[in-house]
Amino acid sequence: MRTSRREFCAMLAGASILAPTFDLHAKEQRSLKALAAKKGILFGSAVGAGTSGSLTGSFSDPEYLKILKDECAIIVPENELKSYVISPTSDKFDLEPGDRIAAFVRNNRMKLRGHTLLWNHPEYMPKWLAELDSATAAREYLLRYIQRVCSHYGDRIYSWDVVNETLDPKTGELRDTSFTRLLGFDALRISYETAKEYAPRAQLVYNDYMSWGADHEKHRAGVLKLLEQFRSSKVPVDALGIQSHIGNVPMDETQRKEWKAFLDAVTAMDYRLLITEFDVGDKDLPTDFATRDARVAAAAKDYLDFMLAYREVDQVLCWGMVDKYSWLQGFKPRADGTAKRSTPYDDAYKAKPMREAMAAAFEAAPKRRALPRS
Ligand code: XIL
Repeated sequence: MRTSRREFCAMLAGASILAPTFDLHAKEQRSLKALAAKKGILFGSAVGAGTSGSLTGSFSDPEYLKILKDECAIIVPENELKSYVISPTSDKFDLEPGDRIAAFVRNNRMKLRGHTLLWNHPEYMPKWLAELDSATAAREYLLRYIQRVCSHYGDRIYSWDVVNETLDPKTGELRDTSFTRLLGFDALRISYETAKEYAPRAQLVYNDYMSWGADHEKHRAGVLKLLEQFRSSKVPVDALGIQSHIGNVPMDETQRKEWKAFLDAVTAMDYRLLITEFDVGDKDLPTDFATRDARVAAAAKDYLDFMLAYREVDQVLCWGMVDKYSWLQGFKPRADGTAKRSTPYDDAYKAKPMREAMAAAFEAAPKRRALPRS
């Protein structure tokens, strides 16, 4: 059939109208969340509503929110669900900042992670909790606080970091806090059991920052011991959250072996794995941005390739998507005084090589089984 001149012109006009739609579609397909989803992985990030105690206010930046909408399928409030924000003193209980983030997440049909019900670390515990002085008071607090927070969010929280950083990396033993002093291991048991009761459908996670270095040997051993104890005492823990604030030097052979042995032991106990707070430290890299960005990207790719080989990893979250909001800006600054470049986007909201490295790692990852919950 011959196409008339008029029909041909109409086709061209139609195609040029459609072209932006195709471009948009292609862009969506290349988003980090889409590339991850193809492999059965949820990709997302932290966002901070800039409450007291928080360095970051990314939640009030529309450009940042656009990146979250384009790239992320799951969001975690950076500080807003920590006890020092919700309940800094015994007479305060404020879920408003967390609720604002939860509403954004719901309106954009994303999933929400909760971080964290018990950050069992002396430096990050409100003074009034550090000063609890009886086992009854400690138990009552945990029961009541976890009940209130979990029942408030209910099924809206897909996955909870119930307990965070409870081990002393130097010894691998429980950190010395009011909770562990007064209740010992029971502080953890009560936390998970209460979370299970009031958020029965949420994934319950133990989150920590152990890694592969020789200096982390005690920390890794401590985590394995703790995970075994959870299993033998039937504490309802589903997964290990691996924070993943990594450095920029890829693992050497020994470290790969040690890290693999650790992950194999964790998965052999039937725990799922998550990357909960991914970023790449560039403290000691040269000032030059191109060199720095390339090294950060290479480290990100190497790490993600290693981790995503484990089909148990089904969530990957960055601890921030844009450099200027990264908590690392205020943590061990660079000697040359320049800002860190540890996240996938630069301060002009442009994707950096790290973002492409992450996309490539998702594309190379083996497919995992469908996620257990929707
Ligand atoms: C950090 C936040 O990013 C900062 O804004 C805050 O001042 C301190 O906490 N491990 C964790 C996170 O589990 O909660 C920490 O977040 C980063 C290290």
